[in-house]
Amino acid sequence: MNLSPDSLILDPFAGSGVIGTGCQSAHLRFFGIEAHPLVAELANLKLRPAPGPPTELRNEATRIADIVRTKAVATKRRIERLQSTETDLVVRSFTGPVLAELTALRDEIKQGSRVKWEPYLRWALLATLRDVAAVKVGWPYQRPAAARKPIHSDPISRFLVRVHWISEDIAIRSDADAGLSRVVAGDSRNPDTWSLEEQLGQGCISSPPYLNNFDYADATRLELYFWGYASSWAEMCATVRVDMVTATTQQSSAPAAQAAVQQLLQVGTFGDHLTSLIAALKDERAARPRGKEYDQVLPDYFAAMAQVLKNLAAALEPDALSIWLIGDSAPYGVYVDTPALIGKLAEEYGFTVEKDVTMRKRGARWAQNQTRHNIELTERAMLFRRT
Ligand SMILES: C[S@@+](CC[C@H](N)C(=O)[O-])C[C@H]1O[C@@H](n2cnc3c(N)ncnc32)[C@H](O)[C@@H]1O
Repeated sequence: MNLSPDSLILDPFAGSGVIGTGCQSAHLRFFGIEAHPLVAELANLKLRPAPGPPTELRNEATRIADIVRTKAVATKRRIERLQSTETDLVVRSFTGPVLAELTALRDEIKQGSRVKWEPYLRWALLATLRDVAAVKVGWPYQRPAAARKPIHSDPISRFLVRVHWISEDIAIRSDADAGLSRVVAGDSRNPDTWSLEEQLGQGCISSPPYLNNFDYADATRLELYFWGYASSWAEMCATVRVDMVTATTQQSSAPAAQAAVQQLLQVGTFGDHLTSLIAALKDERAARPRGKEYDQVLPDYFAAMAQVLKNLAAALEPDALSIWLIGDSAPYGVYVDTPALIGKLAEEYGFTVEKDVTMRKRGARWAQNQTRHNIELTERAMLFRRT
């Protein structure tokens, strides 16, 4: 890309802001959109100037940790009470004493911390949860029925370590560059979310959710329930998942799929490419007693990608380059060449496909699963140029 210090890079699936922090290090401007409201907040914390010197954050964390240690919160009575006041997922994820200390830290941060440092302390504590859980809570699945030895045993010390890491990040960041970046919480399918204001983008680097990979709201359920952002599946869907692209069967619905097929049939020959894949997936579903609705995910997913590419085309200068990192997939063994299909859509919305590069093989960790297909999956970098 031909970039200068003023150039603006876009990311319609900004996540926790890895592309944003990279742009910041390269002294470029950055505009991202992220549908998960908490993840968008996290990205902004990493990108925006900190509200004070990092020593202040460390002092605040130490003060809170001291209060919780002094209170000796892991009493039998408190632990018993937590069994009924916390959600089932949270109760089952920790031993009683660990849960008592985690919730005491949480309550102290919510009520007693200096407001300006609250988000930093909150994220340090949320990041501590999976470190001290006594069940399998790897990424993305949380399995409260599968016990494990916690990676770290003392939640308060671990919280302080996490705060220390955040304070180190703040210390090395240049606030001069921090003002040039932002992430909007919202849906990149919606043109109104692309509030670029001052200029068009000179480039885009992004990685959309992969088809048939995982549900980003569900993957953060432990953190959402622990902090009280949601306390049930329905609430989580309504508050956190509402703006997300459908990429899994859990998120799919028949009416949304039908509307998406109609939309895609208007997009050049793209609908024809998709129809045969949808039919194959429908057959696979019908051949199983409780088959999954991959045939409904597919149209909804590609209709979303079409909308985002359309918005992206309108937000980029002529000739601007976009790099999208995308994985392919093979639900029920039906190969879906997602990167190539997104490339076809990009061509419909004012891009040319310049390169399609395999970055790595993936899916190997499921190789032992007898019921899984043996199609080799990859992750590819697609390079598009705005015409
Ligand atoms: C593969 S991840 C991107 C990871 C990112 N590069 C990072 O640094 O963390 C895809 C992201 O797209 C987000 N997403 C899903 N649907 C979206 C939508 N409609 N608009 C904006 N972001 C969305 C997900 O929440 C997820 O964070």
